[in-house]
Amino acid sequence: MSLRGLINVRIIIAVILILTLGGLLAIWQARQSVEEEVNSSFNLALQMIDLGFNYPASRVVSEQHWMRQLSTIQKTRHIHITVVKDDGSESEWLTEQSEPELENMPPYWFKKAVTSEYPSASYNINLMDGSSRTIIIRADPIDEVAEAWAESKAFFWSIVLMMTFIFVAINIVFQSMLRTVHAILAGLRRVESGEYGKKLPNFRISEFDAIATEVNNLSDALDSARRSNQALARHTMHIQENERQTMSRELHDEMGQSLTAVKAMAVATKQPQARIPDIADSIIEICNHLSGVVRSMMRTLHPLSLSDLGLSATLTDLVNEWLRRNPSLKVELDYDETIDWLDHEVAIHVYRIVQECLTNVVRHAEATRVDVVIRRQLHNMKPWIVIRVEDNGSGGSAEGEGFGILGMRERVESMGGHFKFDSLPGKGVRVRASMPFIEKQDEK
Ligand SMILES: Nc1ncnc2c1ncn2[C@@H]1O[C@H](COP(=O)(O)OP(=O)(O)OP(=O)(O)O)[C@@H](O)[C@H]1O
Ligand SMILES: [Mg+2]
Repeated sequence: MSLRGLINVRIIIAVILILTLGGLLAIWQARQSVEEEVNSSFNLALQMIDLGFNYPASRVVSEQHWMRQLSTIQKTRHIHITVVKDDGSESEWLTEQSEPELENMPPYWFKKAVTSEYPSASYNINLMDGSSRTIIIRADPIDEVAEAWAESKAFFWSIVLMMTFIFVAINIVFQSMLRTVHAILAGLRRVESGEYGKKLPNFRISEFDAIATEVNNLSDALDSARRSNQALARHTMHIQENERQTMSRELHDEMGQSLTAVKAMAVATKQPQARIPDIADSIIEICNHLSGVVRSMMRTLHPLSLSDLGLSATLTDLVNEWLRRNPSLKVELDYDETIDWLDHEVAIHVYRIVQECLTNVVRHAEATRVDVVIRRQLHNMKPWIVIRVEDNGSGGSAEGEGFGILGMRERVESMGGHFKFDSLPGKGVRVRASMPFIEKQDEK
């Protein structure tokens, strides 16, 4: 159900409840006031009658006399007087109340709801001609009920009018709110379809404005993530191409030439005056050179020792290599032995992160000391591998043309981990990467 439909249904339920309760209240009040009014009129009429007809039953009165007495109560409202003769015939003695007009006549259910049992009284009068009359006085609330009906109708219609105003006002406000919601939905759909350029405008309602700002921020964040992914993908392809070129050059220059030389020497051995031992020495020399070239190519492509020797030994080897190349730099490598239990995929990430950090230190930091700490730690009862590389160099911003930091972040986040690059100018750089500690399946 739409929000608007839901609100309308709620309003209609509230209106029905208010009208029902209001109607019940109006009927109850009408009943009270009719009862009070009728009782007070009836009591007044009785008092007047008691005063006028207060003589012993034996006393005989003239017709004019009791007619005069009756006319005194003619002005009392809500009273119905019936005069019964000896022969049983009845005549109505109307008081001054007016019968309500037909259109103001309350419906039967209303009369039933607001009236109750009312008292009645009767008097016997002996007339001079020997006959007697019985006067029956009953309460008759019809005009009071009609008044209550008119008031209840006015009350009912004023509630209906008020609720209509509220209903229309809420719908107008809602109309404008829904327009904003539709604009935000359209914005979210644009983000979903990768259209990040068009931004949501500012809205007058602060809550919607906050949502729009968040949607715009989300769109910016996705846009920048997409850009860096594209850049990273381009960079990866570029590296791949470069590596292929280097390999084909190496293969061409080193392997091709060496093989041609070996072949030429093999052909030379067929000559009758060939100096076989010298040729054999040359071939051995070329083969040694070739195996050096192959080893170096393989190391570039993949740190073979990682599978053979384990992560700790490969990292030690890497650090030693950097120390050999940069004698002025002091590198402290501190790791838990448990890092050798790491799954190969995670181990490769750890190795490449340390390698990139050391490259960056040498390239950008002008540092004299680097601390590399790798630990297995528990977070929320789950093991994580945490890498911290800290130098005492010049520090610097991670923003730049390079892809090293982006690549490290991608590696870590692809494993569901966290990456942080912190630096203060002159205080060096601290890189912290943490990933879930996935253990090798076969052995520990
Ligand atoms: N240890 C460090 N000390 C000082 N600045 C650093 C350090 N590491 C990174 N930086 C800064 O962060 C920037 C981005 O580093 P990043 O590794 O992403 O790129 P790069 O090293 O310039 O190039 P690439 O790694 O792609 O060959 C660097 O240009 C440098 O300014
Ligand atoms: Mg780098």
